[in-house]
Amino acid sequence: MCGITACAAPAENDVLDTLVAGLRNLEYRGYDSSGVAVRNGEGVTVVKREGEIDALADALGAVSPNGAVGVGHTRWSTHGAPTDENAHPHTDCSGEVSVVHNGIVENYTALRGELIELGHTFTSETDTEVVPHLVEMYRERGLSTEDAFRKAIGRLEGRFAVAMVVDDEDDVFAARDGSPLVLGVGEDRRFLASDVPSFLEHTDRVAFLEDGDVVRISADHHEITDLAGNPVDRTVQTVDWQPEDAQRGGFDHYMLKEINEQPAALDRAIKGRITDDGDVHLEDFPPGTFEDVGVVHLLACGTSYHAALYAQQILADRGIPAQVFSAGEYTTTPAPVTDDTLVVAVTQSGETADTLTSIRIAAERGARTLAVTNVIGSTAARDCDDALFIRAGPEIGVAATKTFSSQVAVLALLAERIAEDVTGSVDPDREALLSALQDLPEHVQETLNTSTAEALAPQFVGRDEQFFIGRGVGYPVALEAALKFKEITYEHAEGFAAGELKHGPLALVTSDSTVFAVFTGRHDEKTLKNVEEVRSRGAPVVAIAAESAHEVAEAADEFLAIPETHPVAAGLLANVQLQLVSYRVADLLGRSIDKPRNLAKSVTVE
Ligand code: F6R
Repeated sequence: MCGITACAAPAENDVLDTLVAGLRNLEYRGYDSSGVAVRNGEGVTVVKREGEIDALADALGAVSPNGAVGVGHTRWSTHGAPTDENAHPHTDCSGEVSVVHNGIVENYTALRGELIELGHTFTSETDTEVVPHLVEMYRERGLSTEDAFRKAIGRLEGRFAVAMVVDDEDDVFAARDGSPLVLGVGEDRRFLASDVPSFLEHTDRVAFLEDGDVVRISADHHEITDLAGNPVDRTVQTVDWQPEDAQRGGFDHYMLKEINEQPAALDRAIKGRITDDGDVHLEDFPPGTFEDVGVVHLLACGTSYHAALYAQQILADRGIPAQVFSAGEYTTTPAPVTDDTLVVAVTQSGETADTLTSIRIAAERGARTLAVTNVIGSTAARDCDDALFIRAGPEIGVAATKTFSSQVAVLALLAERIAEDVTGSVDPDREALLSALQDLPEHVQETLNTSTAEALAPQFVGRDEQFFIGRGVGYPVALEAALKFKEITYEHAEGFAAGELKHGPLALVTSDSTVFAVFTGRHDEKTLKNVEEVRSRGAPVVAIAAESAHEVAEAADEFLAIPETHPVAAGLLANVQLQLVSYRVADLLGRSIDKPRNLAKSVTVE
């Protein structure tokens, strides 16, 4: 939700292109408007526009503000409509102070009232605009820019990452509390951004800032302190991401690239985590780590919630009680936590506000917390007692694809570790499951190579609605496929447990609906009956099942084949087929696939 970026380069350099490129790499965080503020010898020039970054690039063509220091912003609107006025950066009355912000200033109404009474004039409806005016006020009272910035930051309540340039300082000032902020240390320049891909083409040396950090960067120096000005040490580390990871390569969309990256991502997810003698080896979680666990609570949102449902099924198969909670619900109605509750927060970004709040609530109640996340240094990884990384690499498309597969693979390994620790034994099915996980990269590749989703896609355009059904792990796949379909095609789609259709939704099924049925090889005979129920109402059925499932193929109107494998892996392969279906339909409809309307990748507001 909103991306901020900043760069300080040596004098005589021009950071404008760097800022715009950095914003393009953050556009997945919001695309309602964008803007930059660039400082040169004559002051700070701000250019901002409603709409996607191309609109900003056009406007910059006419103005070309050159300078060696600047900040940028891409917005997902929370306070105020997506207009030029509400676009960031926001400035003070004099135009000397320019601020970009990700998050929400919860006490902005009171601060705004106070500042208006003191004679400040506001030009936007945003919460952010109070920040430059506060800095202006404190500078006018004689504080240095840095002290004024600290003082202003100290007045803010809520979640934020802010970055600021002023007309008479060479440095960029920034702070975080609740929203992500990463420092990039380049050869001759420094960067700040909401996420690493923003500056990855310049440097892979980063320091993840923490809540309460205030940072000041120049081209060759950075200084991190707490709000009171005491130095704090944040390790500069090298991230294992390549610049190409954050680029589209030869693909039309990031989503298609990321769907195709799944074999490699899955390979990384399981690499070194299954030993030659068939044991699960999870770095920080040696055998016995979870022996005291009585119940597992999985907390997540959206696609990650579906991965959590998937994990619940695997844990249930192993006899481990597990409950899944939508993190947003957990924040208002938390479940009882006992001494033996393990809370597993599943979050790709590690920055989803609902999930972070639910982690805090669980921890306050005494639960042991574990984040399953893609982002090292993310808030979830730091706030939880432990973190397990899914190693999917950066995911830029707003619709999650490869991270879902990697989450499920890693959660399956975690489930095996927990089950062995709790029961003291190894389930007879484990060998088959681990072997199927090891085969997954190859099986996903085969699925991608042979999929007929593109050829079938035209018949799914313009239908009244699409239903997705499945049972066992096929159920979270049905939910995930429906979410993907509605998210990027803007067409109506719903997912159901296969047996649920006849309890109500069947009333909606007509010959103008399509029903996608997921078969994993477990209880397929029951799902076949559900297929008959919908076909007798005239709805065409597309079955996704193993290539050898002849009975299923015969019962369906269309068939998407997946390689023969363990049911847990079969669900993931079926999901790959359905990702392709959604992608192809959205493409035929000409949708904004990587940046669907109204959405942002990282939802940092509750
Ligand atoms: C859908 C999607 C979202 C996210 C959700 C949680 O394609 O990507 O539903 O899954 O916003 O995000 P994370 O996993 O970052 O907590």
